[in-house]
Amino acid sequence: MFKTLIITFLAIPTLVCAQQPQLGKDPIEKVINAMTLDEKLDLLIGSGGNVKTEASATIGNSSALVQGAAGQLNAIPRLGIPNTVLADGPAGLRIQPKRNGTDKTFYCTHFPIETVMSSTWNSNLVRAVGAAIGDEVKHYGVDVLLAPATNIQRNPLNGRNFEYYSEDPLLAGKITAAMIDGVQSNGVGTSLKHFALNNQETNRTNNNVIGNPRTFREIYLKPFEIAVKESHPWTVMTSYNKINGTYTSERADLLTEILRHEWGFNGMVMTDWYGGQHTTMQMEAGNDLIMPGKLSQREELRKAILNGNISMEIIDRNIKNILEYIIKTPRFNGYVADNNPDLDAHAQVTRNAAIEGMVLLKDDNKALPFTSNIKKLAAFGFTSYDFIAGGTGSGDVNHAYVVSLIDGLKNGGFSIDSSIKDSYEKYIPGAKAKMPKPQGQFAAFLPKKLIPEMELSNSELINAAKNNDAAVITIGKTSGEFGDRSIKTNFNLTDAEKKMINDVTTVFHKEGKKVIVILNVCGVIETRSWISKPDAVLISWLPGQEGGNSVADILAGKESPSGRLPMTWPVSYNDVPSKNDFPNPDEISDDDLTNSLKGFSEIRTQGSRKNFDITTYNDGIYVGYRYYTTKNVPVSFPFGYGLSYTSFEYGKPIVNKDNNGNINITVNVKNKGKMAGKEVVQVYVSAPGKDMDKPARELKGFAKTKRLAVGESETVTINIPYESLASFNDQSNCWQVESGIYKVMVAKNAADMKPLTTTVYEEGKITQNVRPCLVAEQK
Ligand code: BGC
Repeated sequence: MFKTLIITFLAIPTLVCAQQPQLGKDPIEKVINAMTLDEKLDLLIGSGGNVKTEASATIGNSSALVQGAAGQLNAIPRLGIPNTVLADGPAGLRIQPKRNGTDKTFYCTHFPIETVMSSTWNSNLVRAVGAAIGDEVKHYGVDVLLAPATNIQRNPLNGRNFEYYSEDPLLAGKITAAMIDGVQSNGVGTSLKHFALNNQETNRTNNNVIGNPRTFREIYLKPFEIAVKESHPWTVMTSYNKINGTYTSERADLLTEILRHEWGFNGMVMTDWYGGQHTTMQMEAGNDLIMPGKLSQREELRKAILNGNISMEIIDRNIKNILEYIIKTPRFNGYVADNNPDLDAHAQVTRNAAIEGMVLLKDDNKALPFTSNIKKLAAFGFTSYDFIAGGTGSGDVNHAYVVSLIDGLKNGGFSIDSSIKDSYEKYIPGAKAKMPKPQGQFAAFLPKKLIPEMELSNSELINAAKNNDAAVITIGKTSGEFGDRSIKTNFNLTDAEKKMINDVTTVFHKEGKKVIVILNVCGVIETRSWISKPDAVLISWLPGQEGGNSVADILAGKESPSGRLPMTWPVSYNDVPSKNDFPNPDEISDDDLTNSLKGFSEIRTQGSRKNFDITTYNDGIYVGYRYYTTKNVPVSFPFGYGLSYTSFEYGKPIVNKDNNGNINITVNVKNKGKMAGKEVVQVYVSAPGKDMDKPARELKGFAKTKRLAVGESETVTINIPYESLASFNDQSNCWQVESGIYKVMVAKNAADMKPLTTTVYEEGKITQNVRPCLVAEQK
């Protein structure tokens, strides 16, 4: 019977109909029924490996229609199906800035990294950034932005943490949802990635994540769930890794049961580039589109269809999801890109966003903001002159410029010590030239190494301390795709960096002058060993192309810092709960790294892998502050921490519970200090923890006030839905709320020992029964 159907189906191409069904005009089913086998394969497999027609041609693996875009889908002109274009990424659109045959440039705005976005704790601001990114996506003729990425920052060494939002699922989920809303408000799509559990780069395409459903659902899937339910991304991208033995792109329980049936996702699912192994399993699991697409994948699928090893219902189900996506795209709807986004307006957006994501860690004796008598500054650390805008890999952006710290300070009216500046400007090019060049086939993929810090002579330092009003030291750390961060040189400061902080503070303090450290870093670093020395420490993160201006605005006191840490800063790497279950990049030789990258290429060329790695999530739900607060492990700076130039007074929180157990908190916040500023209100809940294993506290809601003038106040309201108190019960496969007294705490951060606390009694209940998922290998 099935064979007969196939014969009929194969015969269709020979019939040339006068009137072809057209996508958008005719029902989708009619368009699907009119497709030949080749056309179906054209749609399911991206155009990377298929250079069959002019319309589908690509450059290498990237899009021909928009140069530098990561990929494109094939067109089927006779059925009214256009190509559509997909491009990265999380900190702005990644396309090629220059094209042959034209002098016009196609630069995109480099916005702050995702970690800056979550540090703002401000959904409205993130929505505005998303709207500006989406505007560039549309103006440059791209249909889907391959972002945002919302994997949990499980371990500070993950090289791609800068592309992710938080160690906490609620903060990550809410900020992700705001970003998707903003981008999609332009009528372009997003791809929520990397679904799921892509928490390390080392051997990423060979990594098998072992863990239990509770950990997965409560921590790692939660941000995806929140984003899917609240902001409806057009597409989802599966991740490279396996979960309990099966690639995520081949797990029907993840892609069909959880994503579609439980969460109601009705968009398109695509692979990460070359991700997964068996095209047929991917199709069956509900991974609609294979990117960027290879001829071997096309052939595997063709054979499976012809042999009856995959049903046509599955193929057509996936085609339908792809066509429904295409109908929404600007290209399908006749939009013609003008390649002219308002880059000046977006420069202002990125400048303001970076300001709001900066976190003030220390400010002894009000060293910041600079008072009006501080005019002359000496800038130390080579990244003061070569400021880092973002991370590397697909999360990078081809920007037109980066405002360095010294340029930002000059724009802000400060003068910069020219003799120190000259030394650095002489040193930097030579030091860069001396850095060993990455070798071999994968050179471009190896993580970028920064030059060592310059040695400063005592006389240089003494002169600088005499001639200037204060010193600014920048510590720079970057990371990127394909590799994790070194503990020795990236998480910890190098000896040269510590010596620089020590020497500069010693001489400047002798002159009674302040020293400010700016952390131009991709993520968490060690601070305990050196932080007592400087007067103030400000994290600028990797703040995008306007970074220097944004920092200068904070130093000069144009804005008060209002960023809060979206992850814990532990005292030492040894304290990190997943340290024993995370690859140590310092023990991985360049050869091993290259081999792990070869794993990536084997998928391209042979579809097979070697050296499967296993990462066991022994830390369970105890990720980040859930661990430190429950096990009473001291940290350097807790999750949610951040200082302000002003101070806020909280009124007594009013907590109400409705008949369904939903909690509502209202609290008044007043600016009691001497300058305008914004405050982040954080609400944590402590569950009874008698019948269930529960962390000491969990973030259950947050809000950011508007910019409050001196003396001004605002009443914020935070809702905690009853369902959000539930934990996942692995034994009975359900979400369940425990009965008992819940402490509701309005706290300054996760470690605040004097939160404003109220209690409510909640009746226990099962809030949702689900099918067993993600437990074993799927065959
Ligand atoms: C990355 C994705 C990215 C894709 C396309 C992959 O290597 O993991 O995040 O979207 O490439 O550039």
